[in-house]
Amino acid sequence: MARFLSSLLMGVLVLACWSACVMAESTVEQQLQRLKENYIEMQQLLADKDRRLEALERENVKSRKTLEAQVTRLESKTRRMEIEAIEQKSQLTAMQQQNVLHSGTRAEMATRQAATPTIPRSCADVQCNGHTVSGMYSIMGNTSVEMVFCDFTKTTADPNFQRRIGYADVKTVPTYFYVQKNTSHTTAYTPIPFEVERVNIGGAMNLQTGKFTAPRAGTYFFAFTGDARFVGPRTSIVAVLVEMLWNGRRVGSARTTESNTAGSVHSQMSMQSTLHLKAGDQIWLQIGFMTSGGVAYVFDNPNADQRFNHFTGWLVEENLAGLF
Ligand SMILES: *[C@@H]1O[C@H](CO)[C@@H](O)[C@H](O)[C@H]1NC(C)=O
Ligand SMILES: *[C@@H]1O[C@H](CO)[C@@H](O)[C@H](O)[C@H]1NC(C)=O
Repeated sequence: MARFLSSLLMGVLVLACWSACVMAESTVEQQLQRLKENYIEMQQLLADKDRRLEALERENVKSRKTLEAQVTRLESKTRRMEIEAIEQKSQLTAMQQQNVLHSGTRAEMATRQAATPTIPRSCADVQCNGHTVSGMYSIMGNTSVEMVFCDFTKTTADPNFQRRIGYADVKTVPTYFYVQKNTSHTTAYTPIPFEVERVNIGGAMNLQTGKFTAPRAGTYFFAFTGDARFVGPRTSIVAVLVEMLWNGRRVGSARTTESNTAGSVHSQMSMQSTLHLKAGDQIWLQIGFMTSGGVAYVFDNPNADQRFNHFTGWLVEENLAGLF
């Protein structure tokens, strides 16, 4: 019985040992398989990493090139800015030097400006009056207002500090007239009056007295056109002469003559003049000569709008000397 029991125990032990060995063997094989699989997976991962690394390296090369180009551009920009900075510095120095040059006269100007603001006669005066922006300015000239270009970036000693452009046609009063007659004038040596006023800006022409009075010194223009009438028939010479008078002295005459007139005839007279007048000088027209007996005179017609006698004049350019 004991023998049987021990052999049974033996059998149980052998069986347990066998089954354990079989189990252990299968676990190793499985592990080996897993290791193999792991190895393959790792190899694939490594290959993947290699490819990514290569791609990264290519990108790296590209970025480096871009960076290098940027650095080159920045370097040249810096150089340009350095050059500009040097130029600006030298400009600033020049301006500071000019400023020192001007500050003395500026102080003087400020004092003068405060004391006596004046009608400018030069760009220097314009500057004294407080202008600092270069440009076209009007200044008082000898006889007229002058237009000048003032360059305030230059010193007053520079010939281009003030450049004359021309004179400005400035008048203290406008003077233009144009008058006509609507009746005949038959008396000699008296100023010819005018009845119809077309224009009389400034009122220098007195139609009733026939006299123009210059309101200002200056250059004036006058023109007269008239109609002479001769009553015929006549065989002898007939004449009408109209003269222009300047303060009573003859400036010139317009004359017309006829002879052997079959009936009544008309003849034209005309005269123009340009004169330098003083303020208060007077200009008028009068008959200086006409054949007597009522056979020759200055004719005009009250009917309709027929106007045969014209007197016009205007101030061309005023002389402003001594006014300002
Ligand atoms: C103004 O008069 C002065 C002195 O007579 C002369 O030197 C100058 O040229 C004149 N100016 C003009 C614009 O006529
Ligand atoms: C002449 O003209 C003036 C002004 O227009 C007018 O009053 C006058 O009646 C006119 N005379 C004649 C004769 O037409």
